[in-house]
Amino acid sequence: MPGLVVIGAQWGDEGKGKIVDLLTEHADVVVRFQGGNNAGHTLVVGGKKIILHLIPSGILHRNKICVIGNGVVIDPKVCVEEIEAVKKRGFLRSDRQLMISDRAHVIFPYHRIIDQLREASKGEAKIGTTGRGIGPAYEDKAARRGIRMGEIIDPPLLRKRLKDILPERNRYITAILGGQALPEGEIFSAYAAWGRKLKKYVCDGSEFLQNAVEKGRRILFEGAQGTSLDLDYGTYPFVTSSNTVGASSCVGSGVGPRAVTDLWGVSKAYSTRVGAGPFPTELFDGLGESLREKGGEYGSTTGRPRRCGWLDLVVLRHAVKINGLTGLVVTKLDVLSGLKSIKVCTGYRLRGGLLKTLPSRVEDLADCRPVYEELPGWTEDISGIRMLKRLPPRVKGYLKFVEKHLKCPVVLVSAGPDREQHILLKKPF
Ligand code: IMP
Repeated sequence: MPGLVVIGAQWGDEGKGKIVDLLTEHADVVVRFQGGNNAGHTLVVGGKKIILHLIPSGILHRNKICVIGNGVVIDPKVCVEEIEAVKKRGFLRSDRQLMISDRAHVIFPYHRIIDQLREASKGEAKIGTTGRGIGPAYEDKAARRGIRMGEIIDPPLLRKRLKDILPERNRYITAILGGQALPEGEIFSAYAAWGRKLKKYVCDGSEFLQNAVEKGRRILFEGAQGTSLDLDYGTYPFVTSSNTVGASSCVGSGVGPRAVTDLWGVSKAYSTRVGAGPFPTELFDGLGESLREKGGEYGSTTGRPRRCGWLDLVVLRHAVKINGLTGLVVTKLDVLSGLKSIKVCTGYRLRGGLLKTLPSRVEDLADCRPVYEELPGWTEDISGIRMLKRLPPRVKGYLKFVEKHLKCPVVLVSAGPDREQHILLKKPF
Protein backbone atom coordinates (compact mmCIF):
# COMPACT_ATOMS: atom_id res chain seq x y z
CA MET A 1 0.00 0.00 0.00
CA PRO A 2 2.32 2.71 -1.20
CA GLY A 3 1.58 6.33 -0.36
CA LEU A 4 3.72 9.23 -1.50
CA VAL A 5 3.29 12.67 0.05
CA VAL A 6 4.47 15.68 -1.95
CA ILE A 7 4.76 18.89 0.04
CA GLY A 8 6.35 22.31 -0.38
CA ALA A 9 9.70 22.65 1.40
CA GLN A 10 9.86 26.47 1.32
CA TRP A 11 7.17 29.20 1.34
CA GLY A 12 4.92 27.66 -1.29
CA ASP A 13 5.00 28.18 -5.06
CA GLU A 14 7.77 25.60 -5.43
CA GLY A 15 6.15 24.08 -8.50
CA LYS A 16 4.26 21.29 -6.73
CA GLY A 17 1.45 21.37 -9.31
CA LYS A 18 3.73 20.29 -12.13
CA ILE A 19 5.39 17.65 -9.94
CA VAL A 20 2.07 16.15 -8.80
CA ASP A 21 0.80 16.22 -12.38
CA LEU A 22 3.78 14.26 -13.70
CA LEU A 23 3.84 11.83 -10.76
CA THR A 24 0.14 11.10 -11.24
CA GLU A 25 1.11 8.89 -14.15
CA HIS A 26 2.53 6.48 -11.54
CA ALA A 27 -0.38 6.77 -9.06
CA ASP A 28 -3.99 5.55 -8.88
CA VAL A 29 -5.45 8.22 -6.62
CA VAL A 30 -4.46 11.85 -5.89
CA VAL A 31 -5.70 13.63 -2.76
CA ARG A 32 -5.43 17.27 -1.62
CA PHE A 33 -5.35 17.39 2.17
CA GLN A 34 -5.15 21.03 3.32
CA GLY A 35 -5.39 24.65 2.25
CA GLY A 36 -7.96 26.04 -0.10
CA ASN A 37 -8.08 28.41 -3.02
CA ASN A 38 -5.19 30.36 -1.54
CA ALA A 39 -3.14 27.81 -3.50
CA GLY A 40 -2.57 28.13 -7.21
CA HIS A 41 -1.04 25.11 -8.90
CA THR A 42 0.15 26.00 -12.36
CA LEU A 43 0.38 23.22 -14.92
CA VAL A 44 1.66 23.48 -18.46
CA VAL A 45 0.59 20.69 -20.76
CA GLY A 46 1.43 20.81 -24.44
CA GLY A 47 2.46 24.45 -24.02
CA LYS A 48 -0.96 25.40 -22.55
CA LYS A 49 -1.29 26.74 -19.02
CA ILE A 50 -3.91 25.58 -16.50
CA ILE A 51 -4.10 26.95 -12.96
CA LEU A 52 -5.86 24.83 -10.34
CA HIS A 53 -6.77 26.18 -6.91
CA LEU A 54 -8.77 23.33 -5.39
CA ILE A 55 -8.97 20.29 -7.63
CA PRO A 56 -5.91 18.04 -7.26
CA SER A 57 -3.33 18.51 -10.00
CA GLY A 58 -3.85 14.87 -11.04
CA ILE A 59 -7.15 15.73 -12.75
CA LEU A 60 -5.46 16.08 -16.13
CA HIS A 61 -5.00 12.31 -16.25
CA ARG A 62 -8.06 10.28 -17.20
CA ASN A 63 -8.69 7.13 -15.10
CA LYS A 64 -7.08 8.64 -11.99
CA ILE A 65 -9.33 9.44 -9.06
CA CYS A 66 -8.91 12.85 -7.44
CA VAL A 67 -10.09 13.53 -3.91
CA ILE A 68 -10.49 16.87 -2.15
CA GLY A 69 -9.92 15.77 1.43
CA ASN A 70 -11.58 16.82 4.67
CA GLY A 71 -8.60 19.04 5.59
CA VAL A 72 -9.26 21.39 2.67
CA VAL A 73 -11.47 24.49 3.04
CA ILE A 74 -13.70 24.87 0.00
CA ASP A 75 -15.14 27.95 -1.62
CA PRO A 76 -17.97 26.25 -3.54
CA LYS A 77 -18.19 28.99 -6.17
CA VAL A 78 -14.52 28.56 -6.99
CA CYS A 79 -14.95 24.79 -6.96
CA VAL A 80 -17.89 24.87 -9.38
CA GLU A 81 -16.08 27.28 -11.71
CA GLU A 82 -12.95 25.17 -11.64
CA ILE A 83 -14.87 21.99 -12.44
CA GLU A 84 -16.53 23.76 -15.38
CA ALA A 85 -13.20 25.15 -16.63
CA VAL A 86 -11.49 21.78 -16.42
CA LYS A 87 -14.40 20.10 -18.25
CA LYS A 88 -14.26 22.77 -20.95
CA ARG A 89 -10.64 21.82 -21.57
CA GLY A 90 -11.68 18.21 -22.12
CA PHE A 91 -10.73 16.80 -18.71
CA LEU A 92 -12.96 15.30 -15.98
CA ARG A 93 -15.09 13.49 -18.56
CA SER A 94 -16.57 11.23 -15.91
CA ASP A 95 -17.90 12.78 -12.70
CA ARG A 96 -16.72 9.65 -10.88
CA GLN A 97 -13.17 10.93 -11.27
CA LEU A 98 -13.65 13.59 -8.58
CA MET A 99 -14.66 13.19 -4.93
CA ILE A 100 -15.12 15.87 -2.31
CA SER A 101 -15.08 14.95 1.36
CA ASP A 102 -18.35 15.60 3.16
CA ARG A 103 -16.25 16.66 6.16
CA ALA A 104 -14.41 19.47 4.31
CA HIS A 105 -15.30 22.91 5.68
CA VAL A 106 -16.89 25.56 3.50
CA ILE A 107 -15.72 29.14 2.98
CA PHE A 108 -18.56 31.67 3.25
CA PRO A 109 -18.62 35.37 2.23
CA TYR A 110 -18.23 36.38 5.90
CA HIS A 111 -14.88 34.54 5.98
CA ARG A 112 -13.60 36.52 3.01
CA ILE A 113 -14.88 39.80 4.43
CA ILE A 114 -13.35 39.15 7.85
CA ASP A 115 -10.03 38.22 6.19
CA GLN A 116 -9.99 41.39 4.08
CA LEU A 117 -11.22 43.83 6.75
CA ARG A 118 -8.72 42.52 9.27
CA GLU A 119 -5.85 42.83 6.84
CA ALA A 120 -6.91 46.36 5.90
CA SER A 121 -7.07 47.38 9.56
CA LYS A 122 -3.58 46.06 10.30
CA GLY A 123 -1.80 48.44 7.92
CA GLU A 124 1.95 47.83 7.96
CA ALA A 125 1.54 44.84 10.26
CA LYS A 126 -0.61 42.88 7.82
CA ILE A 127 0.23 39.28 6.99
CA GLY A 128 -0.40 39.72 3.31
CA THR A 129 -3.00 36.95 3.12
CA THR A 130 -4.58 36.01 -0.18
CA GLY A 131 -7.86 37.51 1.08
CA ARG A 132 -9.75 34.34 0.21
CA GLY A 133 -11.13 33.77 3.72
CA ILE A 134 -8.88 30.80 4.43
CA GLY A 135 -7.83 31.80 7.97
CA PRO A 136 -11.34 32.72 9.19
CA ALA A 137 -12.73 29.44 7.76
CA TYR A 138 -10.15 27.40 9.69
CA GLU A 139 -10.84 29.54 12.77
CA ASP A 140 -14.54 28.64 12.56
CA LYS A 141 -13.66 24.98 12.17
CA ALA A 142 -11.63 25.10 15.40
CA ALA A 143 -14.30 27.20 17.11
CA ARG A 144 -16.88 24.52 16.19
CA ARG A 145 -19.05 26.91 14.22
CA GLY A 146 -18.01 25.78 10.76
CA ILE A 147 -20.34 24.50 8.05
CA ARG A 148 -19.24 21.47 6.10
CA MET A 149 -19.75 20.18 2.57
CA GLY A 150 -22.12 17.47 3.83
CA GLU A 151 -24.35 20.27 5.11
CA ILE A 152 -24.48 22.64 2.14
CA ILE A 153 -25.83 19.81 -0.02
CA ASP A 154 -28.80 19.51 2.37
CA PRO A 155 -30.82 22.79 2.16
CA PRO A 156 -32.77 22.47 5.46
CA LEU A 157 -29.53 21.74 7.31
CA LEU A 158 -27.75 24.62 5.56
CA ARG A 159 -30.58 27.00 6.56
CA LYS A 160 -30.41 25.83 10.16
CA ARG A 161 -26.63 26.23 10.33
CA LEU A 162 -26.74 29.73 8.84
CA LYS A 163 -29.45 30.75 11.30
CA ASP A 164 -27.27 29.58 14.18
CA ILE A 165 -24.01 31.07 12.98
CA LEU A 166 -24.56 34.14 10.81
CA PRO A 167 -26.03 36.57 13.40
CA GLU A 168 -22.95 36.22 15.59
CA ARG A 169 -20.56 36.59 12.62
CA ASN A 170 -22.50 39.65 11.46
CA ARG A 171 -22.20 41.23 14.91
CA TYR A 172 -18.44 40.66 14.74
CA ILE A 173 -18.22 42.20 11.26
CA THR A 174 -20.26 45.29 12.13
CA ALA A 175 -19.26 46.00 15.73
CA ILE A 176 -15.58 45.01 15.67
CA LEU A 177 -14.48 45.37 12.07
CA GLY A 178 -16.80 48.21 11.01
CA GLY A 179 -18.17 46.27 8.04
CA GLN A 180 -21.67 45.62 6.74
CA ALA A 181 -23.90 42.76 7.85
CA LEU A 182 -24.48 40.04 5.27
CA PRO A 183 -28.00 38.95 4.25
CA GLU A 184 -28.84 35.39 5.22
CA GLY A 185 -31.31 34.83 2.38
CA GLU A 186 -28.81 35.63 -0.38
CA ILE A 187 -26.13 33.45 1.14
CA PHE A 188 -28.57 30.60 1.55
CA SER A 189 -29.78 30.73 -2.06
CA ALA A 190 -26.29 30.94 -3.53
CA TYR A 191 -24.85 28.16 -1.36
CA ALA A 192 -27.85 25.88 -1.80
CA ALA A 193 -27.44 26.30 -5.59
CA TRP A 194 -23.72 25.48 -5.47
CA GLY A 195 -24.52 22.61 -3.12
CA ARG A 196 -26.89 21.19 -5.76
CA LYS A 197 -24.14 21.35 -8.38
CA LEU A 198 -21.53 19.75 -6.15
CA LYS A 199 -23.72 17.10 -4.53
CA LYS A 200 -22.72 14.36 -6.96
CA TYR A 201 -19.08 14.67 -5.91
CA VAL A 202 -19.62 14.84 -2.14
CA CYS A 203 -19.00 11.57 -0.28
CA ASP A 204 -17.08 10.02 2.58
CA GLY A 205 -13.65 10.60 1.06
CA SER A 206 -11.93 9.02 4.00
CA GLU A 207 -13.74 5.71 3.56
CA PHE A 208 -12.89 5.67 -0.13
CA LEU A 209 -9.22 6.29 0.65
CA GLN A 210 -9.11 3.65 3.38
CA ASN A 211 -10.47 1.09 0.93
CA ALA A 212 -7.96 2.22 -1.68
CA VAL A 213 -5.15 1.76 0.86
CA GLU A 214 -6.41 -1.74 1.72
CA LYS A 215 -6.50 -2.69 -1.94
CA GLY A 216 -2.89 -1.58 -2.35
CA ARG A 217 -3.68 1.38 -4.62
CA ARG A 218 -0.89 3.92 -5.10
CA ILE A 219 -1.91 7.15 -3.41
CA LEU A 220 -0.35 10.52 -4.07
CA PHE A 221 -0.99 13.11 -1.35
CA GLU A 222 -0.76 16.64 -2.74
CA GLY A 223 0.27 19.39 -0.32
CA ALA A 224 -0.40 23.08 -0.78
CA GLN A 225 1.69 26.10 0.35
CA GLY A 226 4.98 25.09 2.03
CA THR A 227 6.65 24.06 5.28
CA SER A 228 7.68 27.62 6.22
CA LEU A 229 4.00 28.64 5.94
CA ASP A 230 2.90 25.82 8.28
CA LEU A 231 0.73 27.00 11.17
CA ASP A 232 3.03 25.39 13.78
CA TYR A 233 6.40 25.12 12.07
CA GLY A 234 6.43 28.11 9.75
CA THR A 235 7.44 31.70 10.38
CA TYR A 236 4.50 32.30 12.73
CA PRO A 237 2.44 34.51 12.60
CA PHE A 238 3.36 35.06 8.93
CA VAL A 239 1.94 31.70 7.96
CA THR A 240 -1.20 30.19 6.53
CA SER A 241 -3.86 28.73 8.82
CA SER A 242 -3.38 25.02 8.14
CA ASN A 243 -0.68 22.47 8.76
CA THR A 244 1.19 22.18 5.50
CA VAL A 245 3.68 19.55 6.68
CA GLY A 246 3.65 15.93 5.57
CA ALA A 247 2.06 14.62 8.77
CA SER A 248 -1.03 16.65 7.91
CA SER A 249 -1.63 14.40 4.88
CA CYS A 250 -3.20 11.70 7.08
CA VAL A 251 -5.44 13.94 9.18
CA GLY A 252 -6.53 15.92 6.14
CA SER A 253 -7.50 12.89 4.09
CA GLY A 254 -8.63 10.39 6.72
CA VAL A 255 -6.09 7.60 6.54
CA GLY A 256 -3.65 6.35 9.17
CA PRO A 257 0.08 7.20 9.06
CA ARG A 258 0.92 3.69 7.84
CA ALA A 259 -0.59 4.66 4.48
CA VAL A 260 2.42 6.91 3.89
CA THR A 261 5.62 5.28 2.68
CA ASP A 262 7.53 8.23 1.23
CA LEU A 263 7.61 11.99 1.59
CA TRP A 264 9.11 14.21 -1.07
CA GLY A 265 9.70 17.90 -0.46
CA VAL A 266 9.68 20.29 -3.39
CA SER A 267 12.11 23.20 -3.46
CA LYS A 268 13.00 25.71 -6.12
CA ALA A 269 16.71 26.03 -6.91
CA TYR A 270 16.40 29.47 -5.25
CA SER A 271 13.83 30.91 -2.82
CA THR A 272 10.66 32.97 -3.12
CA ARG A 273 8.01 34.24 -0.75
CA VAL A 274 4.70 36.10 -1.27
CA GLY A 275 3.19 38.26 1.44
CA ALA A 276 4.90 39.63 4.52
CA GLY A 277 7.29 37.97 6.98
CA PRO A 278 11.04 37.47 7.39
CA PHE A 279 13.03 36.09 4.46
CA PRO A 280 16.75 36.02 5.34
CA THR A 281 18.14 35.40 1.83
CA GLU A 282 15.91 37.93 0.05
CA LEU A 283 17.62 39.87 -2.74
CA PHE A 284 16.71 43.53 -3.02
CA ASP A 285 18.93 44.27 -6.02
CA GLY A 286 18.73 43.71 -9.77
CA LEU A 287 19.50 40.04 -9.29
CA GLY A 288 16.29 39.54 -7.31
CA GLU A 289 14.41 41.31 -10.08
CA SER A 290 16.00 39.20 -12.80
CA LEU A 291 15.10 35.99 -10.94
CA ARG A 292 11.53 37.28 -10.72
CA GLU A 293 11.36 38.02 -14.44
CA LYS A 294 13.17 34.91 -15.60
CA GLY A 295 11.27 32.63 -13.24
CA GLY A 296 7.90 34.32 -13.88
CA GLU A 297 7.63 34.88 -10.15
CA TYR A 298 4.18 36.38 -9.89
CA GLY A 299 1.50 34.77 -7.71
CA SER A 300 -0.79 32.41 -9.63
CA THR A 301 -3.65 33.22 -7.23
CA THR A 302 -3.26 36.95 -6.60
CA GLY A 303 -0.79 38.02 -9.31
CA ARG A 304 1.41 39.63 -6.64
CA PRO A 305 5.15 39.83 -7.44
CA ARG A 306 7.01 37.24 -5.38
CA ARG A 307 10.00 38.25 -3.30
CA CYS A 308 13.09 36.38 -4.59
CA GLY A 309 16.36 35.28 -2.98
CA TRP A 310 19.09 32.65 -2.82
CA LEU A 311 18.50 29.07 -1.77
CA ASP A 312 18.33 28.78 2.01
CA LEU A 313 19.55 25.46 3.41
CA VAL A 314 18.49 26.36 6.97
CA VAL A 315 14.90 26.55 5.73
CA LEU A 316 15.33 23.31 3.79
CA ARG A 317 17.06 21.45 6.65
CA HIS A 318 14.07 22.39 8.80
CA ALA A 319 11.76 21.01 6.09
CA VAL A 320 13.74 17.76 5.80
CA LYS A 321 13.46 17.16 9.54
CA ILE A 322 9.92 18.35 10.26
CA ASN A 323 8.46 16.43 7.33
CA GLY A 324 10.76 13.42 7.60
CA LEU A 325 11.58 13.84 3.91
CA THR A 326 12.85 10.82 2.03
CA GLY A 327 13.53 12.79 -1.14
CA LEU A 328 14.05 16.31 -2.44
CA VAL A 329 12.60 17.59 -5.70
CA VAL A 330 14.48 20.57 -7.16
CA THR A 331 12.50 22.76 -9.57
CA LYS A 332 13.25 25.74 -11.81
CA LEU A 333 16.93 24.83 -12.05
CA ASP A 334 16.97 26.40 -15.53
CA VAL A 335 16.24 29.84 -14.04
CA LEU A 336 19.74 29.90 -12.51
CA SER A 337 21.45 29.34 -15.90
CA GLY A 338 23.63 32.26 -16.97
CA LEU A 339 24.74 33.37 -13.51
CA LYS A 340 28.49 33.71 -12.96
CA SER A 341 28.27 32.36 -9.45
CA ILE A 342 25.48 31.13 -7.19
CA LYS A 343 25.19 31.72 -3.46
CA VAL A 344 23.67 29.20 -1.07
CA CYS A 345 22.88 30.02 2.54
CA THR A 346 24.23 27.35 4.89
CA GLY A 347 23.61 29.04 8.26
CA TYR A 348 22.65 32.30 9.95
CA ARG A 349 24.56 34.79 12.06
CA LEU A 350 22.45 35.91 14.99
CA ARG A 351 23.90 38.27 17.61
CA GLY A 352 27.43 37.01 17.08
CA GLY A 353 26.52 33.31 17.12
CA LEU A 354 26.15 30.84 14.25
CA LEU A 355 22.71 29.23 13.83
CA LYS A 356 22.04 26.10 11.78
CA THR A 357 18.38 25.76 12.72
CA LEU A 358 15.37 27.99 12.23
CA PRO A 359 14.56 30.13 15.28
CA SER A 360 10.93 29.93 16.41
CA ARG A 361 10.54 33.67 17.06
CA VAL A 362 9.94 35.75 14.00
CA GLU A 363 11.84 38.69 15.54
CA ASP A 364 14.95 36.51 15.80
CA LEU A 365 14.59 35.30 12.23
CA ALA A 366 14.29 38.91 11.07
CA ASP A 367 17.65 39.64 12.74
CA CYS A 368 19.40 36.64 11.16
CA ARG A 369 22.04 37.38 8.56
CA PRO A 370 22.70 34.62 6.03
CA VAL A 371 26.09 32.93 5.84
CA TYR A 372 26.74 32.07 2.21
CA GLU A 373 28.89 29.64 0.29
CA GLU A 374 29.52 30.61 -3.30
CA LEU A 375 29.40 27.99 -6.05
CA PRO A 376 30.34 28.41 -9.71
CA GLY A 377 27.43 29.12 -12.05
CA TRP A 378 26.79 27.65 -15.51
CA THR A 379 25.90 29.13 -18.86
CA GLU A 380 24.35 26.15 -20.64
CA ASP A 381 20.64 25.95 -21.43
CA ILE A 382 19.56 22.91 -19.43
CA SER A 383 15.84 23.07 -20.09
CA GLY A 384 15.71 20.23 -22.63
CA ILE A 385 17.85 17.77 -20.68
CA ARG A 386 16.13 14.50 -19.66
CA MET A 387 19.09 12.55 -18.24
CA LEU A 388 21.24 13.30 -15.21
CA LYS A 389 24.45 12.44 -17.02
CA ARG A 390 23.73 15.13 -19.62
CA LEU A 391 23.61 17.88 -17.00
CA PRO A 392 26.72 20.11 -17.04
CA PRO A 393 29.18 19.25 -14.20
CA ARG A 394 28.52 22.55 -12.41
CA VAL A 395 24.79 21.86 -12.27
CA LYS A 396 25.51 18.41 -10.86
CA GLY A 397 27.91 20.06 -8.39
CA TYR A 398 25.11 22.36 -7.23
CA LEU A 399 22.74 19.45 -6.66
CA LYS A 400 25.43 17.40 -4.87
CA PHE A 401 26.18 20.36 -2.60
CA VAL A 402 22.51 20.63 -1.61
CA GLU A 403 22.19 16.86 -1.08
CA LYS A 404 25.28 16.73 1.10
CA HIS A 405 24.19 19.61 3.31
CA LEU A 406 20.65 18.31 3.72
CA LYS A 407 21.48 14.62 3.97
CA CYS A 408 18.54 13.99 1.69
CA PRO A 409 18.74 12.59 -1.86
CA VAL A 410 17.59 14.59 -4.87
CA VAL A 411 14.94 12.35 -6.45
CA LEU A 412 13.59 14.56 -9.21
CA VAL A 413 14.87 17.61 -11.05
CA SER A 414 12.71 19.97 -13.07
CA ALA A 415 14.11 22.46 -15.56
CA GLY A 416 11.34 24.17 -17.50
CA PRO A 417 7.57 24.50 -17.04
CA ASP A 418 6.38 21.71 -19.35
CA ARG A 419 5.45 18.29 -18.00
CA GLU A 420 8.20 16.64 -20.06
CA GLN A 421 10.98 18.91 -18.79
CA HIS A 422 12.18 16.83 -15.87
CA ILE A 423 14.61 14.10 -14.79
CA LEU A 424 13.16 11.42 -12.49
CA LEU A 425 15.94 9.82 -10.42
CA LYS A 426 13.88 7.50 -8.22
CA LYS A 427 10.75 5.47 -8.78
CA PRO A 428 7.94 7.25 -6.92
CA PHE A 429 6.10 4.03 -5.94
P1 IMP B 1 -3.65 32.91 3.63
O1 IMP B 1 -3.31 31.47 3.41
O2 IMP B 1 -4.46 33.50 2.50
O3 IMP B 1 -4.25 33.16 4.98
O4 IMP B 1 -2.28 33.74 3.61
C1 IMP B 1 -1.29 33.62 4.63
C2 IMP B 1 0.12 33.69 4.06
O5 IMP B 1 0.35 32.54 3.27
C3 IMP B 1 0.36 34.88 3.14
O6 IMP B 1 1.71 35.30 3.28
C4 IMP B 1 0.16 34.31 1.74
O7 IMP B 1 0.86 35.03 0.76
C5 IMP B 1 0.74 32.92 1.94
N1 IMP B 1 0.18 31.94 1.02
C6 IMP B 1 -1.01 31.33 1.11
N2 IMP B 1 -1.17 30.45 0.10
C7 IMP B 1 -0.04 30.48 -0.61
C8 IMP B 1 0.42 29.76 -1.75
O8 IMP B 1 -0.25 28.88 -2.31
N3 IMP B 1 1.68 30.07 -2.19
C9 IMP B 1 2.44 30.99 -1.57
N4 IMP B 1 2.07 31.69 -0.50
C10 IMP B 1 0.84 31.43 -0.03
